[in-house]
Amino acid sequence: MKVGFVGWRGMVGSVLMERMLVENDFADIEPIFFTTSNVGGQGPSIGKDIPALKDAHDITELKSLDAIVSCQGGDYTKAVFADLRAAGWQGYWIDAASSLRMDDEAIIVLDPVNDQVIRDGLSQGVKNYIGGNCTVSLMLMAIGGLFNAGLVEWVSAMTYQAASGAGAKNMRELISQMGAIEHNVADKLADPASAILDIDRQVADFIRGDELPTDQFGAPLAGSLLPWIDVQLENGQSKEEWKAQVETNKILRTGDDLIPVDGTCVRIGAMRCHSQALTIKLKKDIPMVEIESIIANANDWVKVVPNDRDVTLQELTPAAVTGQLHVPVGRLRKMNMGGEYLNAFTVGDQLLWGAAEPLRRMLRILRE
Ligand code: HSE
Repeated sequence: MKVGFVGWRGMVGSVLMERMLVENDFADIEPIFFTTSNVGGQGPSIGKDIPALKDAHDITELKSLDAIVSCQGGDYTKAVFADLRAAGWQGYWIDAASSLRMDDEAIIVLDPVNDQVIRDGLSQGVKNYIGGNCTVSLMLMAIGGLFNAGLVEWVSAMTYQAASGAGAKNMRELISQMGAIEHNVADKLADPASAILDIDRQVADFIRGDELPTDQFGAPLAGSLLPWIDVQLENGQSKEEWKAQVETNKILRTGDDLIPVDGTCVRIGAMRCHSQALTIKLKKDIPMVEIESIIANANDWVKVVPNDRDVTLQELTPAAVTGQLHVPVGRLRKMNMGGEYLNAFTVGDQLLWGAAEPLRRMLRILRE
């Protein structure tokens, strides 16, 4: 199988390369690496010989591939995909970008949750397999069991999203902001006799001033948060909030039985783990032990964290989960509103299950 990789050098692409190396995924494919800037250059080191980098806009070259995996972003997809199909290409297009996600001719891939949807798509000749929005994928990795058991009436997801979701430059800016704030107040901080309210005032002035780097986020994130992610829609939602319902329902193929999902998406100062506080309205009041067992048995990566303070602080934080494939879900308890209202909190690495891993696994499914 000849597989082309585009955007393998970016952040999501690099995570994909790392994961493919760990899982020995290059062994039984013929990988061909593409570039938008360095044609003829050297591809990544993957433990076997590969040809020099090819032009990612060369339709003739792309047409020779059985599958293309793109982590290059939506603009590239828009520039190339339609021409490639118009030229008669019948291969599989696997993409991290959102441009084709809601297309009728595309399936959103998250096989631990919607394996059957993917397999039905393959047998029906669907050729486009797109990774989901990271918050949606991570939410479904966490509580997909409840959805697939038909127990969910609606979900409200309040998110705490990491800098990585906005891009590599944003991660750097977050760290720069943190460092600049500490640096600005370091003298006072070192003096045990200094007054905390003086420190606080100086920090607030500095965060609001012109010296803090904010080119990427457009506002201070360190020492603050940003309750808006992506563009503004006419209905008052952010685009990130809009994706929750449409993508969840598409991944689960709910058809006419739409499950409402809504909430507020918030950027916080975590590096690469998105967290979500979920209010889940169940269709019936079932015991907690049953709920926990349905959640825990849904896939190999979800991990129920006991609703205990110490364990939660050790296991259910971005600091604990970053770089990990498991998706912990905890704070599980019935809420004051009644026995059908379930509280949950989940954390997941948005570059792994939120981006690279579903694509890597789709490539595996194609080779079965
Ligand atoms: N849109 C997401 C975010 C990341 O900004 O965190 C990609 O799904």
